[in-house]
Amino acid sequence: MADLEDVKDTRNFHVGVPERREPFFLKGSGALDWGMQHRLAHIFDPASGRTVMLAIDHGYFQGPTAGLERVDVDIVPLLPWANALMLTRGILRANIPPSFGRGVVLRASGGPSILKELSNEQLAVDVEDAVRLDVSAMAVQVFVGGEFETQSIHNLTRLVDAGIRAGIPTLGVTAVGKNMTRDARYFRLACRICAELGAHFVKTYYVPEGFETVTASCPVPIVMAGGKKLPELEALAMAHRAVSEGAAGVDMGRNIFQSEAPAAMIRAVGAVVHQLMKPEQAHDLYQTLRHEKRDVRVAV
Ligand code: R5P
Repeated sequence: MADLEDVKDTRNFHVGVPERREPFFLKGSGALDWGMQHRLAHIFDPASGRTVMLAIDHGYFQGPTAGLERVDVDIVPLLPWANALMLTRGILRANIPPSFGRGVVLRASGGPSILKELSNEQLAVDVEDAVRLDVSAMAVQVFVGGEFETQSIHNLTRLVDAGIRAGIPTLGVTAVGKNMTRDARYFRLACRICAELGAHFVKTYYVPEGFETVTASCPVPIVMAGGKKLPELEALAMAHRAVSEGAAGVDMGRNIFQSEAPAAMIRAVGAVVHQLMKPEQAHDLYQTLRHEKRDVRVAV
Protein backbone atom coordinates (compact mmCIF):
# COMPACT_ATOMS: atom_id res chain seq x y z
CA MET A 1 0.00 0.00 0.00
CA ALA A 2 1.24 3.48 -0.82
CA ASP A 3 2.77 5.51 1.99
CA LEU A 4 0.07 7.95 3.22
CA GLU A 5 2.47 10.47 4.76
CA ASP A 6 3.24 13.69 2.90
CA VAL A 7 0.60 13.04 0.26
CA LYS A 8 0.80 15.81 -2.33
CA ASP A 9 -2.31 17.83 -3.15
CA THR A 10 -3.80 16.93 -6.49
CA ARG A 11 -3.67 19.89 -8.87
CA ASN A 12 -3.00 18.88 -12.49
CA PHE A 13 -6.61 18.56 -13.62
CA HIS A 14 -6.00 20.19 -17.00
CA VAL A 15 -9.36 21.94 -16.73
CA GLY A 16 -10.45 23.10 -20.17
CA VAL A 17 -8.20 20.63 -22.01
CA PRO A 18 -10.44 18.42 -24.14
CA GLU A 19 -10.19 14.68 -23.53
CA ARG A 20 -7.66 13.06 -25.84
CA ARG A 21 -9.33 10.50 -28.03
CA GLU A 22 -7.54 8.56 -30.72
CA PRO A 23 -9.78 6.68 -33.10
CA PHE A 24 -8.66 3.06 -33.48
CA PHE A 25 -6.57 2.81 -36.62
CA LEU A 26 -8.14 -0.22 -38.28
CA LYS A 27 -10.99 -0.09 -40.74
CA GLY A 28 -14.33 -1.20 -39.31
CA SER A 29 -12.86 -1.89 -35.87
CA GLY A 30 -13.70 1.30 -33.98
CA ALA A 31 -16.63 -0.18 -32.08
CA LEU A 32 -14.77 -3.24 -30.81
CA ASP A 33 -14.01 -3.77 -27.15
CA TRP A 34 -10.59 -2.73 -25.79
CA GLY A 35 -9.33 -6.32 -25.61
CA MET A 36 -10.24 -6.99 -29.24
CA GLN A 37 -8.52 -3.81 -30.38
CA HIS A 38 -5.50 -4.60 -28.23
CA ARG A 39 -5.19 -8.02 -29.84
CA LEU A 40 -5.59 -6.58 -33.35
CA ALA A 41 -2.85 -4.05 -32.53
CA HIS A 42 -0.55 -7.03 -31.96
CA ILE A 43 -1.20 -8.18 -35.52
CA PHE A 44 -1.35 -4.86 -37.39
CA ASP A 45 1.44 -2.35 -36.86
CA PRO A 46 -0.23 0.82 -35.54
CA ALA A 47 2.42 2.96 -37.29
CA SER A 48 1.65 1.76 -40.83
CA GLY A 49 -1.78 0.26 -40.16
CA ARG A 50 -0.64 -2.88 -41.98
CA THR A 51 0.77 -6.32 -41.23
CA VAL A 52 3.20 -8.91 -42.51
CA MET A 53 1.72 -12.18 -41.33
CA LEU A 54 3.81 -15.27 -41.88
CA ALA A 55 1.53 -18.22 -42.69
CA ILE A 56 2.96 -21.57 -41.62
CA ASP A 57 -0.27 -23.48 -40.96
CA HIS A 58 -0.16 -25.57 -44.15
CA GLY A 59 0.53 -28.79 -42.22
CA TYR A 60 -2.99 -28.86 -40.81
CA PHE A 61 -4.22 -30.45 -44.03
CA GLN A 62 -1.12 -31.31 -46.08
CA GLY A 63 1.44 -32.50 -43.54
CA PRO A 64 5.11 -31.52 -43.68
CA THR A 65 5.14 -28.93 -46.47
CA ALA A 66 8.35 -28.00 -48.31
CA GLY A 67 10.06 -25.31 -46.24
CA LEU A 68 8.20 -26.26 -43.07
CA GLU A 69 9.87 -29.61 -42.38
CA ARG A 70 11.66 -28.10 -39.37
CA VAL A 71 9.90 -25.02 -38.04
CA ASP A 72 12.39 -24.73 -35.19
CA VAL A 73 15.32 -24.52 -37.63
CA ASP A 74 13.89 -22.66 -40.62
CA ILE A 75 11.04 -20.49 -39.32
CA VAL A 76 12.01 -19.36 -35.83
CA PRO A 77 14.91 -17.23 -37.21
CA LEU A 78 12.34 -15.30 -39.31
CA LEU A 79 10.22 -14.24 -36.34
CA PRO A 80 11.88 -10.83 -35.78
CA TRP A 81 10.45 -9.66 -39.12
CA ALA A 82 6.91 -11.02 -38.81
CA ASN A 83 4.17 -8.86 -37.32
CA ALA A 84 2.20 -12.04 -36.75
CA LEU A 85 2.39 -15.78 -37.20
CA MET A 86 -0.49 -17.85 -38.54
CA LEU A 87 -0.17 -21.43 -37.34
CA THR A 88 -1.69 -24.39 -35.55
CA ARG A 89 -1.60 -24.91 -31.81
CA GLY A 90 0.54 -28.00 -32.30
CA ILE A 91 3.39 -26.08 -33.92
CA LEU A 92 2.90 -23.13 -31.58
CA ARG A 93 3.38 -25.26 -28.48
CA ALA A 94 6.13 -27.42 -29.97
CA ASN A 95 8.32 -24.90 -31.75
CA ILE A 96 7.57 -21.24 -31.07
CA PRO A 97 9.37 -19.57 -28.16
CA PRO A 98 6.83 -18.10 -25.70
CA SER A 99 8.97 -14.96 -25.72
CA PHE A 100 7.63 -14.21 -29.22
CA GLY A 101 5.85 -10.96 -28.44
CA ARG A 102 3.89 -10.26 -31.59
CA GLY A 103 0.62 -11.52 -32.98
CA VAL A 104 -0.37 -15.17 -33.00
CA VAL A 105 -3.23 -16.09 -35.33
CA LEU A 106 -4.37 -19.57 -34.46
CA ARG A 107 -5.68 -21.91 -37.14
CA ALA A 108 -9.00 -22.99 -35.61
CA SER A 109 -10.62 -25.11 -38.33
CA GLY A 110 -9.63 -28.41 -39.85
CA GLY A 111 -10.66 -32.00 -40.47
CA PRO A 112 -10.05 -33.24 -43.99
CA SER A 113 -6.60 -33.88 -45.39
CA ILE A 114 -5.52 -33.34 -48.99
CA LEU A 115 -6.81 -36.87 -49.58
CA LYS A 116 -10.43 -35.83 -49.00
CA GLU A 117 -12.96 -33.06 -49.71
CA LEU A 118 -11.28 -29.98 -48.22
CA SER A 119 -14.45 -27.97 -47.61
CA ASN A 120 -15.67 -30.55 -45.08
CA GLU A 121 -13.99 -28.71 -42.19
CA GLN A 122 -15.17 -28.29 -38.63
CA LEU A 123 -13.94 -26.16 -35.78
CA ALA A 124 -10.79 -27.77 -34.45
CA VAL A 125 -9.94 -25.65 -31.40
CA ASP A 126 -11.88 -24.80 -28.27
CA VAL A 127 -11.83 -21.09 -27.50
CA GLU A 128 -10.66 -21.94 -23.96
CA ASP A 129 -7.44 -23.26 -25.43
CA ALA A 130 -7.06 -20.13 -27.55
CA VAL A 131 -7.36 -18.09 -24.34
CA ARG A 132 -4.82 -20.36 -22.64
CA LEU A 133 -2.42 -19.77 -25.54
CA ASP A 134 -3.00 -15.99 -25.35
CA VAL A 135 -3.56 -15.78 -29.10
CA SER A 136 -4.33 -12.53 -30.91
CA ALA A 137 -6.93 -14.01 -33.29
CA MET A 138 -8.42 -17.28 -34.50
CA ALA A 139 -8.67 -18.23 -38.17
CA VAL A 140 -11.36 -20.25 -39.91
CA GLN A 141 -11.61 -21.28 -43.55
CA VAL A 142 -14.80 -20.36 -45.41
CA PHE A 143 -15.67 -22.24 -48.61
CA VAL A 144 -18.19 -20.00 -50.36
CA GLY A 145 -19.60 -22.02 -53.26
CA GLY A 146 -17.92 -25.17 -51.99
CA GLU A 147 -19.58 -28.50 -51.29
CA PHE A 148 -19.75 -27.82 -47.53
CA GLU A 149 -20.38 -24.07 -47.85
CA THR A 150 -23.04 -23.80 -45.13
CA GLN A 151 -21.06 -25.92 -42.67
CA SER A 152 -17.95 -23.78 -43.16
CA ILE A 153 -19.94 -20.57 -42.72
CA HIS A 154 -21.50 -22.03 -39.58
CA ASN A 155 -17.94 -22.70 -38.36
CA LEU A 156 -17.19 -19.01 -38.88
CA THR A 157 -20.25 -17.76 -37.01
CA ARG A 158 -19.71 -20.13 -34.07
CA LEU A 159 -16.08 -19.08 -33.83
CA VAL A 160 -17.03 -15.39 -33.99
CA ASP A 161 -19.54 -15.90 -31.16
CA ALA A 162 -17.05 -17.79 -29.01
CA GLY A 163 -14.31 -15.27 -29.79
CA ILE A 164 -16.49 -12.30 -28.86
CA ARG A 165 -17.18 -13.88 -25.46
CA ALA A 166 -13.42 -14.20 -24.90
CA GLY A 167 -12.37 -10.95 -26.58
CA ILE A 168 -10.54 -12.72 -29.41
CA PRO A 169 -10.99 -11.51 -33.02
CA THR A 170 -11.73 -13.94 -35.86
CA LEU A 171 -10.01 -14.07 -39.24
CA GLY A 172 -12.19 -15.37 -42.07
CA VAL A 173 -10.10 -17.10 -44.75
CA THR A 174 -11.67 -17.35 -48.19
CA ALA A 175 -10.79 -20.76 -49.61
CA VAL A 176 -10.84 -21.44 -53.29
CA GLY A 177 -12.06 -24.85 -54.43
CA LYS A 178 -10.52 -26.69 -57.33
CA ASN A 179 -13.12 -25.65 -59.90
CA MET A 180 -13.91 -22.13 -58.66
CA THR A 181 -13.23 -18.98 -60.64
CA ARG A 182 -10.74 -16.69 -58.97
CA ASP A 183 -12.01 -13.25 -59.93
CA ALA A 184 -12.98 -10.02 -58.21
CA ARG A 185 -16.67 -10.86 -58.40
CA TYR A 186 -16.14 -14.10 -56.48
CA PHE A 187 -13.85 -12.55 -53.88
CA ARG A 188 -16.21 -9.58 -53.35
CA LEU A 189 -18.90 -12.13 -52.56
CA ALA A 190 -16.78 -14.30 -50.29
CA CYS A 191 -15.10 -11.44 -48.36
CA ARG A 192 -18.32 -9.55 -47.83
CA ILE A 193 -20.06 -12.68 -46.53
CA CYS A 194 -17.22 -13.22 -44.03
CA ALA A 195 -17.43 -9.61 -42.80
CA GLU A 196 -21.22 -9.50 -42.67
CA LEU A 197 -21.24 -12.63 -40.55
CA GLY A 198 -18.78 -11.18 -38.06
CA ALA A 199 -15.19 -11.80 -39.19
CA HIS A 200 -12.99 -9.03 -37.80
CA PHE A 201 -10.58 -9.28 -40.72
CA VAL A 202 -10.47 -11.34 -43.90
CA LYS A 203 -7.76 -13.13 -45.79
CA THR A 204 -8.18 -13.46 -49.53
CA TYR A 205 -6.26 -13.85 -52.76
CA TYR A 206 -5.05 -11.07 -55.02
CA VAL A 207 -6.65 -10.72 -58.44
CA PRO A 208 -5.10 -8.46 -61.09
CA GLU A 209 -8.47 -7.07 -62.25
CA GLY A 210 -10.66 -5.28 -59.72
CA PHE A 211 -8.92 -6.11 -56.44
CA GLU A 212 -9.65 -2.55 -55.26
CA THR A 213 -13.38 -3.37 -55.48
CA VAL A 214 -12.80 -6.36 -53.19
CA THR A 215 -11.12 -4.21 -50.53
CA ALA A 216 -13.57 -1.31 -50.99
CA SER A 217 -16.65 -3.48 -50.52
CA CYS A 218 -15.32 -5.29 -47.46
CA PRO A 219 -15.99 -3.24 -44.29
CA VAL A 220 -13.09 -4.78 -42.33
CA PRO A 221 -9.37 -5.09 -43.15
CA ILE A 222 -8.28 -7.51 -45.86
CA VAL A 223 -4.92 -9.26 -45.83
CA MET A 224 -3.66 -10.78 -49.05
CA ALA A 225 -2.90 -14.51 -49.15
CA GLY A 226 0.33 -15.37 -50.89
CA GLY A 227 -0.57 -18.46 -52.91
CA LYS A 228 1.81 -20.63 -54.88
CA LYS A 229 5.53 -19.83 -55.00
CA LEU A 230 6.40 -17.12 -57.53
CA PRO A 231 9.74 -15.60 -58.49
CA GLU A 232 10.62 -13.09 -55.75
CA LEU A 233 10.12 -9.98 -57.90
CA GLU A 234 6.65 -11.15 -58.94
CA ALA A 235 5.67 -11.88 -55.34
CA LEU A 236 6.89 -8.45 -54.23
CA ALA A 237 5.01 -6.80 -57.11
CA MET A 238 1.81 -8.64 -56.14
CA ALA A 239 2.17 -7.53 -52.52
CA HIS A 240 2.78 -3.95 -53.66
CA ARG A 241 -0.30 -3.92 -55.85
CA ALA A 242 -2.42 -5.44 -53.08
CA VAL A 243 -1.50 -2.84 -50.44
CA SER A 244 -1.72 -0.02 -53.01
CA GLU A 245 -5.23 -1.25 -53.82
CA GLY A 246 -6.42 -1.26 -50.22
CA ALA A 247 -5.14 -4.41 -48.51
CA ALA A 248 -4.06 -3.92 -44.89
CA GLY A 249 -1.08 -6.19 -45.44
CA VAL A 250 -0.26 -9.73 -46.42
CA ASP A 251 -0.43 -13.22 -44.96
CA MET A 252 2.25 -14.99 -46.99
CA GLY A 253 3.59 -18.47 -46.61
CA ARG A 254 5.30 -20.25 -49.50
CA ASN A 255 6.52 -17.05 -51.14
CA ILE A 256 8.55 -16.46 -48.00
CA PHE A 257 9.52 -19.83 -46.55
CA GLN A 258 10.12 -21.46 -49.95
CA SER A 259 12.31 -18.57 -51.10
CA GLU A 260 16.00 -19.33 -51.48
CA ALA A 261 16.58 -16.67 -48.82
CA PRO A 262 13.52 -16.52 -46.54
CA ALA A 263 14.92 -13.93 -44.12
CA ALA A 264 15.82 -11.60 -46.98
CA MET A 265 12.41 -12.15 -48.54
CA ILE A 266 10.37 -11.43 -45.42
CA ARG A 267 12.35 -8.22 -44.89
CA ALA A 268 11.74 -7.17 -48.51
CA VAL A 269 8.03 -7.93 -48.12
CA GLY A 270 8.04 -5.84 -44.95
CA ALA A 271 9.53 -2.89 -46.82
CA VAL A 272 6.79 -3.15 -49.43
CA VAL A 273 3.98 -3.51 -46.91
CA HIS A 274 5.03 -0.94 -44.32
CA GLN A 275 6.94 1.60 -46.43
CA LEU A 276 5.22 1.00 -49.78
CA MET A 277 8.67 0.43 -51.26
CA LYS A 278 8.48 -0.11 -55.03
CA PRO A 279 8.83 -3.78 -56.07
CA GLU A 280 12.07 -3.26 -58.01
CA GLN A 281 13.68 -1.46 -55.08
CA ALA A 282 12.44 -4.13 -52.68
CA HIS A 283 13.89 -6.78 -54.97
CA ASP A 284 17.25 -4.98 -54.88
CA LEU A 285 16.96 -5.03 -51.09
CA TYR A 286 16.23 -8.77 -51.23
CA GLN A 287 19.31 -9.35 -53.39
CA THR A 288 21.49 -7.36 -51.02
CA LEU A 289 20.15 -9.04 -47.91
CA ARG A 290 20.32 -12.56 -49.29
CA HIS A 291 24.07 -12.27 -49.51
CA GLU A 292 24.34 -11.28 -45.89
CA LYS A 293 25.47 -14.18 -43.76
CA ARG A 294 22.52 -13.76 -41.45
CA ASP A 295 20.01 -15.40 -43.81
CA VAL A 296 19.01 -18.76 -42.46
CA ARG A 297 19.30 -20.60 -45.78
CA VAL A 298 22.57 -19.04 -46.90
CA ALA A 299 25.64 -21.03 -46.01
CA VAL A 300 28.01 -19.28 -43.63
C1 R5P B 1 -3.83 -22.58 -46.40
O1 R5P B 1 -4.93 -22.99 -46.29
C2 R5P B 1 -3.20 -21.89 -45.32
O2 R5P B 1 -4.22 -21.30 -44.56
C3 R5P B 1 -2.16 -20.85 -45.63
O3 R5P B 1 -2.08 -20.04 -44.50
C4 R5P B 1 -2.44 -19.98 -46.81
O4 R5P B 1 -2.64 -20.75 -47.94
C5 R5P B 1 -1.32 -18.95 -47.03
O5 R5P B 1 -0.18 -19.54 -47.38
P1 R5P B 1 0.44 -19.36 -48.84
O6 R5P B 1 0.94 -17.96 -48.90
O7 R5P B 1 1.53 -20.37 -48.90
O8 R5P B 1 -0.65 -19.61 -49.82
